[in-house]
Amino acid sequence: MLKVENTGAPVSFSPELLKQFDEIVKRYPKGKQKSALLPILHLVQAEYGWVSSPAMDKVAEYLLIQPIEVYEVATFYTMYFMRPQGKYILEVCRTGPCCLVGAEKIMDHIEQKLGVKEGDVTADGLFSWRGVECLAACGFAPVLQIGPEYTFYENLTSESVDQLINDLKKKANN
Ligand code: FES
Repeated sequence: MLKVENTGAPVSFSPELLKQFDEIVKRYPKGKQKSALLPILHLVQAEYGWVSSPAMDKVAEYLLIQPIEVYEVATFYTMYFMRPQGKYILEVCRTGPCCLVGAEKIMDHIEQKLGVKEGDVTADGLFSWRGVECLAACGFAPVLQIGPEYTFYENLTSESVDQLINDLKKKANN
């Protein structure tokens, strides 16, 4: 379970970001601006890399709703990050079929290889990882995805994970 940390620098949304919020709100009937909450949170996450408490407070202010209404939604959906993440987030499926063919071993391997616990960020800021529920690629288990493009990596082995991490490091340094 993700922990909500009441941290994060004060947030001031840019005029460009606010314009995008306005465009989303326009899709809904007058007075139903709360319906724009999910896509607005996605925009906030794309901008800052995660959804901090100050950002959620600002979203509440913008949508004219209570901060708790934003918190309860943001903490319900696992696609919103409640703390800073690495540039690459390795999301490993930990549901039954993947576990049957070694997902837990893959997660242990990733933890060891990156040297950080689930949800933490490597010192270079490049990686974080976490277990997630079924990624709907059970026939190719074990599986992980990397956002924000959600590229899938299937039939994982310790060796293929090492290769993947090394390739991402090279990509980041180019
Ligand atoms: S159980 Fe892992 S992808 Fe479905």
